[in-house]
Amino acid sequence: MGYVGDNKSLEVLLGGLKRLEYRGYDSAGVAVIDADGHLGVRKRSGKLKVLTDDLAADPLGNGATGIGHTRWATHGGPTDANAHPHLGDNGKLALIHNGIIENFYDLKRELLAEGETFTSETDTEVAAILVGREFQKTHDVTESLRRVVARLHGAFTLLVMHEDQPGVVVGARRNSPLVIGLGDGENFLGSDVAAFVEFTQRAVAIGQDQIVTIRPDSVEVTDFIGNPVETEEFEIAWDVSAADKGGWSSFMAKEISEEPEAVANTLRGRAVNGTVHLPELESIGAAVLADIDRIIIIACGTAAYAGMLGKYAIEQWSRIPVEVELSHEFRYRNPIINSRTLVVSISQSGETMDTLMAVKYATANDARVLSICNTQGATIARESHAVVYTHAGPEVAVASTKAFVAQIAALYLLGLHLATVRGTLSAGEIAENVAELVAIPDKIAEVIESAKVIPQLAHWMTDTQSVLFLGRHVGFPVALEGALKLKELAYIHAEGFAAGELKHGPIALIEPGQIVFVVVPSPRGTGSLHPKVVSNIQEIRARGARVIAIAEKGDAAVLPFADEVIPIPLAATLFEPFLAVVPLHVFGMELAAAKGLDVDQPRNLAKSVTVE
Ligand code: AGP
Repeated sequence: MGYVGDNKSLEVLLGGLKRLEYRGYDSAGVAVIDADGHLGVRKRSGKLKVLTDDLAADPLGNGATGIGHTRWATHGGPTDANAHPHLGDNGKLALIHNGIIENFYDLKRELLAEGETFTSETDTEVAAILVGREFQKTHDVTESLRRVVARLHGAFTLLVMHEDQPGVVVGARRNSPLVIGLGDGENFLGSDVAAFVEFTQRAVAIGQDQIVTIRPDSVEVTDFIGNPVETEEFEIAWDVSAADKGGWSSFMAKEISEEPEAVANTLRGRAVNGTVHLPELESIGAAVLADIDRIIIIACGTAAYAGMLGKYAIEQWSRIPVEVELSHEFRYRNPIINSRTLVVSISQSGETMDTLMAVKYATANDARVLSICNTQGATIARESHAVVYTHAGPEVAVASTKAFVAQIAALYLLGLHLATVRGTLSAGEIAENVAELVAIPDKIAEVIESAKVIPQLAHWMTDTQSVLFLGRHVGFPVALEGALKLKELAYIHAEGFAAGELKHGPIALIEPGQIVFVVVPSPRGTGSLHPKVVSNIQEIRARGARVIAIAEKGDAAVLPFADEVIPIPLAATLFEPFLAVVPLHVFGMELAAAKGLDVDQPRNLAKSVTVE
């Protein structure tokens, strides 16, 4: 984050960092040019609170110019020395960085050979020293940064200030996010709008390879050569209260409670009177969509599991073959794509570097790219031919919940849209599925209400070392999502399996007391999957497993074989995941809380992984 304006930069920075902390939180630091023109720096490993307490005990001089950073460590562990800001020009220049400078080692060797000294193991400090050396020649931060970025490879957002230029903060970005906040007599920079939404709702996204210079009364954006570039202002669609906990025990609890409205808001205006409207796809064109012969969905983590669910629905409705791939695998396996391939990227943050690199690769190889994204103006959105935004609102907890169900809703809208364009479903069949979709928010609310048994379940399982999750058909991605939540929240080894795969090896894991969640398909479904999954439950129970079944209300076949049954409302098979996943989100959160862990900011993680 960067700020120029009134004499309150310290408050602005610490407030903004609090709202950015979810993006990475193993260390934090600020640099401020105080009223005497002196550049002061304070940085501490640990959560932002460590820094804030330190500053309360031993304040920095306040001033009108400042930068602040929360870190997710890449090069060099989370120590005070490795925390940002890093210094150049004998401590008169401060610089912060998101991303990875891939050629930092060669640059560092050059600088060492010229007698420069380093105080950290980071790639970032190399940039700080390089810009400081340029400043000694140019006496201008913008020009100095421009010269240095021409030498850097990799992904970076850099913010720089120098005590000889109070009232100026300069930012540069390549592949990492940076947005401008436009104030009145003050201006802001941030990795996302959460940094300054408290102060202004006017924002400008900065494009690839661009440099921005902010002063209290001016904002200049150029390319890396120095040519002015056009920018487009947008209004931030949510206010600061949406970014606050609002009385909930955790952001995750708040965001689970928002799952119904996240789906409802994503459907709003798009699922109307039994039809689907996605005007965002006009930028790809109906003719192109009609001619698509293959879809590849790319994403990471929870977003990839939403993609797996999208595959079932899109293939069922549009009869277009769909593959789902992890972005980082797709990008480097020389995939077969062409102008008849539709690549659909899914990303809540819109900044996941693995997915961004895959999107850029796809567009460079003639595929049409549609992104499903939850963050306005995000880099992935801007690199795509079309964007369908989920309207889940800001998701702050690192563990994704409401964005997940909103992503499924967006994918199902896409599937029904493609079926409409290609005529693979009748108007009546479209209307039937739209009706199922619009009924989902109320059904999710019902599950949240009935998930009251889960906290007790979680307290009973605090010393569990391993949990397995089984699901079949659309229950399989739900099982994977349930396992991921337990890994990232409760630090428990958990694994999701396709229920049919159990007998091909994993059943050897079952021993007395092994806890297994089973996502049970509806007994009303057309397929004969229900009895097969009930057999799976009997197979593991026979070997001593403790079974927690998530099953449709009234499913009597499961009762005799499960230690616990968590009922979910009736829904057509493809729509059950919206409901079955909710108890697993609640369970992950409750088990982490029961273990006294940080539900919103689990160890080693960041909300948006902006490095490959
Ligand atoms: C989800 O709970 C995890 N935090 C993680 O797997 C996340 O889904 C993944 O990093 C993708 O993030 P994105 O949706 O912002 O691209």
